[in-house]
Parts: sequence; structure tokens; C-alpha cells
Amino acid sequence: MKILLLGSGGREHALAWKIAQSQQCDKLFIAPGNAGTTDCGENVAIGVNEFDRLKTFAIENQIDMVVVGPEDPLVNGIYDSFKNDETTQHIAVIGPSKAGAVLEGSKDFAKTFMKRHNIPTAAYETFDGTTIDEGLKFLETLKAPYVLKADGLAAGKGVLILPTLEEAKRELKEMLGGMFGNASAKVVIEEFLSGIECSVFVLTDGTNYQILPEAKDYKRIGEGDTGLNTGGMGSVSPVPFADKAWLDKVETRIIKPTVDGLKAEGIDYKGFIFFGLINVEGNPMVIEYNCRMGDPETETVMLRLKSDIVDLFKGVANGSISECKVEFDDRSAVCVMLVSGGYPGSYQKGYTIEGIEKVDGSVVFHSGTALKDGNIVTNGGRVIAVSSYGTNKDEALKKSFTEAEKIDFKDKYFRKDIGKDL
Ligand code: AMP
Ligand code: GLY
Repeated sequence: MKILLLGSGGREHALAWKIAQSQQCDKLFIAPGNAGTTDCGENVAIGVNEFDRLKTFAIENQIDMVVVGPEDPLVNGIYDSFKNDETTQHIAVIGPSKAGAVLEGSKDFAKTFMKRHNIPTAAYETFDGTTIDEGLKFLETLKAPYVLKADGLAAGKGVLILPTLEEAKRELKEMLGGMFGNASAKVVIEEFLSGIECSVFVLTDGTNYQILPEAKDYKRIGEGDTGLNTGGMGSVSPVPFADKAWLDKVETRIIKPTVDGLKAEGIDYKGFIFFGLINVEGNPMVIEYNCRMGDPETETVMLRLKSDIVDLFKGVANGSISECKVEFDDRSAVCVMLVSGGYPGSYQKGYTIEGIEKVDGSVVFHSGTALKDGNIVTNGGRVIAVSSYGTNKDEALKKSFTEAEKIDFKDKYFRKDIGKDL
């Protein structure tokens, strides 16, 4: 089978690593990939949103399956683009249709969907430029802190949590005034939920689903969960509080109603669903949906997935996911993300990365790297994920921290407290 994987981050390197282990994968291309994905397949210099070029490449190279890593092409309708074109409609696309990707692409849609299907989530209201006054009044009925969410995709920056009513009111006006462009033309205001977060992933064929190992990520740049939000500074799987009883609640109250709801609404969804959950006094509630895998959660989830991922993808495409077996590795897996100094603010790119070859016993996933004159150089805020197994999380963390010290680039930074709170 010939597979084309789209994306260029640590998530895609981890997916590429796992796909390349499958006996069923004869050839793997990654578009555009990074310096690490070349270890698993062949990089192709096409962007994830260049649908016409991707389709031409897929036809010329007899691609059987396209696996979509990031949300952008999904929200832009890559699934529909392949399926509505008779030259590419035979190609399996792992990722939802544009109508399904709206679960991530519009917070307002996600909230109304959850309301329609009685899926537990924070109380909310949505406002636009014509209802600012109602929005300001609604804020007065809530308690601090205040949660404001841009409706559309805002590169992970669209959620603001404000400590005072005054700031919340000011930011609401800013957001509706175009702070995130069209993405904040509508703003969801919701009740603040307090609890520990956990990410749960499924692969669905639109009717049935298989649950993958859960993970917790660490979003803040600073130790002790302080400072600015990042794409994610590390992850841990399994998550100790997510025991069987809790995960059973997740399945019956959240996963099943979501998959059933998508089907009942006639939404074509064949791919990953990422449930961003929070544990409120023992009860899981949905913070957000994503239509793709998490990053850096994939860098631990792929270590713990024992089953052949291409088998699962075939089940997704053929509508036979219920017949697939998902086996988990009992060990813990953790990932520690090495980032560029300055990130998530401004940072330099192009620094030479040294020492990757000295890493022993951990798996190195490239996140923001590139090849320049034969050297691997930094090419993003998040640079390299060091993923490790252990008989427990502490053993895995010790391993990742030891190996992370061997990799060097100018102004390297990583959090040394990943997993310490669990
Ligand atoms: P989102 O992009 O919706 O995942 O939001 C980003 C982050 O904001 C989440 O991972 C949570 O840490 C936080 N967050 C979002 N919504 C809420 C909420 N209702 N209560 C508490 N924290 C929230
Ligand atoms: N780690 C969170 C995300 O991928 O959105």
C-alpha cells in the first residue's frame, strides 16, 4: 500500500514512525515533512493546503491512502476535494469531511452540537458584533475567571481566560472588533471549569470507533503550569486518574453520543476525533473537540499503540473499524519537548542541532527541524520531542530527561516538571 501523510510536525513524525512499522505500507511519502520524517519515508515538497498539487502527486504515484495530520486542510475540505473528484475518489482519506471538521473549526458549532446531543460541557452563550451588549450582560451573570473563545481557528491563541469582569468585557469588545480577524467574528463565552485535563482519542469510521490510549499534555511554557500557552511542552500516557471507571464514563457520556450524533446529522466523518476533556469532580466534560490527533500527545500515544495503525486506517476507510483490535502497551510513555529560547514569543531559527545520534533507548521525534547544508537545524518553536518508555511514568520521565540533555542547540529550553503533578 502506498500512503501519503500530510504535515510537518512532531505529530506527523510520530505517525510516520508508526505507519512505517506496518507490514502493509510499501511506500510512505510525507508532504512536506521535516528533517526527521526522512527516516520513515520520502518527503515531498508540497504544502498541506495545496490540494490540486497533492491530488496530482497522489495520482502520479498511485497513492492508496492519504492520512491528514493537521486541522487546516481538513477544515479547508481536503476530504471533499479528493472525494468529489473522479480521479481521486478511490483514494482513502483518513480525516473528516469539511462538515465534520467544523467540530474543531467552529467552537459555536461544537457547543450547539454538544447541546443537541446532551454531551457534558460548560454552560455557554455565543455572541457576534450585533449582540455585544447582550454579551457584556451575560458576562455579569458569570463568576471569575471568564472564558472567551474565538469561534474560528486562531492558531491555538483564540481562548482567553480573564481574571476580572473588567478585562473580560474589554477583551470581548476587542475580539468582536476583529482581534483574531474573521475567527473572532463570533465569540463563545463559557463557564470556567476547574479540574485536571486529559486528551482522549478515537478513530471512527462514522458508525463505530476504537479508543486509543489517552494522554495528558502540558500547555504552558513555564514549570508549575505558568506563563504563556504553547502548542504543548510534553505529554504523558497513561493518565493515572483516567482509570477504567472514568474512561467508561467518557465512552458512554461523550464518545458514543458524539459518534452517534455525527451519524444522525448525516456528517461524513472517517478519521480521528480528539476529545479535550476536563475532570470535574470525577465527571468528564468536554473542553473542546479537535478533528485530528494532538501534538505532543501523538508522540506518546503512538508509543503505546501496539496494533498496526494501517489496519486501523483501513478499518476507518472501509467502515469495518469495529472488527479491528486495538492493543495497548502496558508501559508508560512520556514525551519532553525541546523548544527554541523565546518560544512561544519570538525566537530564532536555523541553529544547528547536535547530539541526536547520542540518544540511546528513547525515540526522537522532530517537530520543527529542517535540513540545511547537510545539517539538521532548528526550524520552529517546538523543535524536538524526546519520547521514552518506562515501567512507570517516573522511570519514563527520568529516561527522557537524561536523553534530552544529550541534544543540543543554542537557547534550548524544556520543562523539567512534565508529569510531576500526576
Ligand atoms: P481550547 O482551545 O478550547 O482547548 O482551550 C484552550 C485551553 O483553555 C484548554 O486546554 C483549557 O486549559 C482552557 N479552557 C478552555 N475552556 C475552559 C473552561 N471552560 N474552563 C476552564 N478552562 C478552559
Ligand atoms: N496538544 C493539544 C493539541 O494538539 O491541540
